[in-house]
Amino acid sequence: MVRRSTLTLTTPDDHLPAPESAPVAVAPLRIGPLVVDPPILQAPMAGFTNYAFRQIVREYGGVGLQATEMVNARGFVWMEAERAEHPDRLWGVREEDRPLAVQIWDNDPETMAKVGRRLVEEYQVSVVDINFGCPVKQVTQRAHSGSYLLREPQRMFAIISRLVEACAPTPVTAKIRLGCTRKNINACEIARVVEEAGAAALTVHGRTAEDYFRGHADWDRIAEIKSHLKHIPLIGNGDLDSAEKVVHAFAKYNVDGVMIARAALGRPWLFAQAAAALRGEPIPPEPSLEQQRDCMLRHFELVVERFGEEKGVQLMRKYACCYAQGKHGARHFRSHVARVATRQEFFDVVAKYFPTDEPIEGAAATGSIG
Ligand SMILES: Cc1cc2nc3c(=O)[nH]c(=O)nc-3n(C[C@H](O)[C@H](O)[C@H](O)COP(=O)(O)O)c2cc1C
Repeated sequence: MVRRSTLTLTTPDDHLPAPESAPVAVAPLRIGPLVVDPPILQAPMAGFTNYAFRQIVREYGGVGLQATEMVNARGFVWMEAERAEHPDRLWGVREEDRPLAVQIWDNDPETMAKVGRRLVEEYQVSVVDINFGCPVKQVTQRAHSGSYLLREPQRMFAIISRLVEACAPTPVTAKIRLGCTRKNINACEIARVVEEAGAAALTVHGRTAEDYFRGHADWDRIAEIKSHLKHIPLIGNGDLDSAEKVVHAFAKYNVDGVMIARAALGRPWLFAQAAAALRGEPIPPEPSLEQQRDCMLRHFELVVERFGEEKGVQLMRKYACCYAQGKHGARHFRSHVARVATRQEFFDVVAKYFPTDEPIEGAAATGSIG
């Protein structure tokens, strides 16, 4: 089935150029045997996309495939041997709804294969995704993994092909950046390697590792990759922060799917908005500030239930900042919530400072927009 969006787009305010108003044909996204519908994916984000976040996103709907935080394969093996435990990052994975991708990283094909097989057999995950995009030094320089591997296509081939063999028939996917540096953009070559090694889909974040998160994602470069893939789908990622931009990405850049990351952290309803836009339906409005606050409090309960009050409150500080971001009074709220240590303090600060439709005491003076 091909869905049509008839949305007429207004000009976005930044680098994604003015979208045309023509309808967009969006075919179902197929990752091996898995049909991802809608073709809108939730990105893996270390420290953020744990079970609580995924659950909140799932409740709003509109997401075709969700992903965990990246899990270190070597760490998994070590934890089990030393402590008879599995990583915290697999919290919820056994029980929660499918489809669900677990992302793993390392540079050793056998370790990756071993962990991939465990995830398939014991956790019954829908997809095993490999991280070839992480630019963090601990992963690249210390472990020669993540985006470091973009300079070693042969090793990438060995990792992917071994993992594909170990996980079959569960699909294995790869997530990359455009290259290690601006001068060494090699995503087209890497795309061919990824496909030949047997991966079932390729996700590309349109920046290089050297860029980290600076500048804009280069969607023209993402689009170029398409002609280098024979049959596996291309999923584009980077800077998608509105339903309009998601529609535009499909219309202009010839991707088979899109992946949303940072913009969803404080706006988990973004997937539902984007999915409606893709169906050609009116985009649901942003929830009221009161509804947004209630969503954050539900998120809080899920996190505290799992991690206990001390660690849970600590974890929720950063999420709370995301929920407030861009709103009138966000800076004021952030400065208070960053210091809370107990459940009561969290609730007090939310009651007092979380942005509302009412003028906020103290914030008006600074006119702060987060
Ligand atoms: C806090 C944070 C953690 C991230 N962790 C991961 C990760 O574990 N695995 C991964 O492949 N990408 C990770 N990313 C990258 C995102 O998945 C995504 O590729 C990037 O943020 C660009 O998309 P966006 O512009 O929509 O945010 C992370 C990004 C952020 C901001």
